[in-house]
Amino acid sequence: MAFQKKVLLMCFAVSLAVAGRAPQADQIEILYKTLGGSGRISTNIIEDASLDVPGLILKYNYPLEEHTVTTMDGYILQMHRIPHGRDNHNTPGDRPVVFLMHGLLSSSADYVLLGPGCALGYLLAEEGFDVWMGNARGNYYSRRHTSLNPDSLLSTAFWSFSWDEIGNIDVPTMIDYALKVSGRERLHYIGHSQGTTAFFVMGSLRPDYNAKIISMHALAPVAYMANNQNLLLRFLAQFGNNIEFALSLIGVGEFLPNNNVMTWAGQSICMDEVVFQPLCSNILFLIAGWSEDQHNATMLPVKLGHTPAGSSARQFVHYGQGITGREFRRYDYGTRLANRRVYGSWSPPRYDLSKITAPVFLHYSDNDPLAHVNDVDRLFRELGRPVGKFRIPLTTFGHLDFIWGKDAKTLLFDRVINLIKSMDVNNFDGRI
Ligand SMILES: *[C@@H]1O[C@H](CO)[C@@H](O)[C@H](O)[C@H]1NC(C)=O
Repeated sequence: MAFQKKVLLMCFAVSLAVAGRAPQADQIEILYKTLGGSGRISTNIIEDASLDVPGLILKYNYPLEEHTVTTMDGYILQMHRIPHGRDNHNTPGDRPVVFLMHGLLSSSADYVLLGPGCALGYLLAEEGFDVWMGNARGNYYSRRHTSLNPDSLLSTAFWSFSWDEIGNIDVPTMIDYALKVSGRERLHYIGHSQGTTAFFVMGSLRPDYNAKIISMHALAPVAYMANNQNLLLRFLAQFGNNIEFALSLIGVGEFLPNNNVMTWAGQSICMDEVVFQPLCSNILFLIAGWSEDQHNATMLPVKLGHTPAGSSARQFVHYGQGITGREFRRYDYGTRLANRRVYGSWSPPRYDLSKITAPVFLHYSDNDPLAHVNDVDRLFRELGRPVGKFRIPLTTFGHLDFIWGKDAKTLLFDRVINLIKSMDVNNFDGRI
């Protein structure tokens, strides 16, 4: 603990934010130059596709801070903060903190790329919140370590983590940092997909963190995956016990699926769908799916410019294990001996959801291949303090629509913001 504190203080760093490039900016510019020709896609859209998160926020004249924090195991994580609004609540001041955590293959871009008036990060800032957006180890903004090299050809040590480490180490480290800088004692947490998984990991493995959460909003909650409908994850899940083989298909350290897997996935998932080709070669859409009526085609270049933002192969293998095993467990190292070395038991322990005593709200839908209604129901029953369960009143609403849907504001964000405000008013210790 003392060690952790020291690290935290050492790395207390705000840097001057400058615009940079989005993770897939090069590909997008080439793709749309050959595809669209001049004029068909607005330069404004191409610019949003190419700018990184600080670049986007600065472009739209919102206040931005870039923060760097180092975890106790050496990962250097970058957080993006919008401390106040642009049009409303637009002066610096003491505000309730909302922490936003992205999903698999994504980044803090999830919460800004739809732009002002639509994206959740900006909406919260306009509503008077101090908005902090995390980035998990291994993604584009957090691809650094005090001693390990993510690009090393000799060692994949940098990538030996799953979402267990993201929930057990990254999220608590970023929460402590945001609370320290803002001077608050507690915050609201909003996660999407893996951002919810990581929260459930934290709440069960480090239950003392529940006291730091005023409310938690899980958008497309993923814990149990017994009913997961995704073909690619199910395909990987078949090799659940043969971890080496699964990893050879999707990258031994960093997630870099080989061409055969991508071709197979693209063909089997996109075969009967009349969709724009880039969707079928983007791994995020292959995994999460899309719904035609919620997908804003104008914004496609921007979504493709910012994803995939990077992850470890183990994050996928760990989800695959949840599909095969039908339980929410820690990462299975593949042999009884290896598990015993790490956990002291032959098989990986289950995450004890009853230990999650923070108030949790689940937001889910009928058409989410990754968060099936039955799995969400089971999660809700087993949580320590489930408060609300909200089904999106639109059957076609899919997994990515929880962050990017055309109607996400009216169907989801407005409700989440109202719930957060009501939790603040009723805050028991009188301090927001
Ligand atoms: C789709 O995105 C474009 C570009 O940001 C925006 O102008 C338009 O209003 C969006 N359409 C809908 C229905 O949200």
